Amino acid sequence: MAKLIGGIGTSHIPAIGGAIHKGLQQEPYWKPFFDGYPPVREWLAKTKPDVLVVFYNDHGLNFFLDKMPTFAVGAAQQYVNSDEGWGIPSLEPLRGDLDLSWHIINTLVEKEFDVVTCQEMLVDHACSLPLKLFYPEGNYPVTVVPVCINTVQFPLPSAKRVYAMGKAVGEAIKSWDSSKKVAVVASGGLSHQLDGERAGFINKAFDLQFMDSLLTNPEWATQFSVLELVEKTGTQGIELLMWLAMRAALTVGDGSSVRKVHSNYYIPISNTATGLLALETV
Ligand code: DHB
Ligand code: FE
Repeated sequence: MAKLIGGIGTSHIPAIGGAIHKGLQQEPYWKPFFDGYPPVREWLAKTKPDVLVVFYNDHGLNFFLDKMPTFAVGAAQQYVNSDEGWGIPSLEPLRGDLDLSWHIINTLVEKEFDVVTCQEMLVDHACSLPLKLFYPEGNYPVTVVPVCINTVQFPLPSAKRVYAMGKAVGEAIKSWDSSKKVAVVASGGLSHQLDGERAGFINKAFDLQFMDSLLTNPEWATQFSVLELVEKTGTQGIELLMWLAMRAALTVGDGSSVRKVHSNYYIPISNTATGLLALETV
């Protein structure tokens, strides 16, 4: 059976792609953010996952407001990033893993999660940036399975539902008849609000408590409703649901406790509080 080796939560912001493109990683504004990643890259170089299952939210590139699945899973040979209108060059395509995609889809539907299956799927900054941050030299040594969770248009899935879905994805990975090593990735957050009266809203105390809960009490955030989470973290801070799915995947079966490999938390990048957390199953 496949091995689930750990998980990584990371922020995503289009401007990160712009900073990489312009080579600004050592600039004072960007350095504390980019300095978080070398220990995670070292862990990836040491553990060498074959596949990354990426929980992320699409922001209108593949799914627009007219058709918005709550949960969608990619089942494509390749996932192409495309112009999102930020004036930043597109990132390289991601290689798919059809076998694991269909195993996850079959498992989720069997467990009564009625997912949308996507045999063609563009991936936006939320899915493509983590790969570039983890493997900056490109030519990614992993295949991916994108799992998209709607945090863009209400109604959104509850934290409890996302946790259950993440756990089912973990069960799928662990029951995959393969000798491959798999890691789960969460792309989103942490607290931020890009528009409206509270634009610029950040909640450091909550973010740190949430990151800590992923180590000590993974289900902690499921006590909150979506509206409570929006209140606490901002309209886009709700992207923390990705982190919850990632952590839930790691709770499955033997080897379900985790140790922290590395974390980073830095404010502000754009209007966001950025987070990074790598966990290894033990
Ligand atoms: C920003 C943050 C996001 O989560 C996102 O998806 C797009 C933009 C921002 O802060 O600019
Ligand atoms: Fe986002």
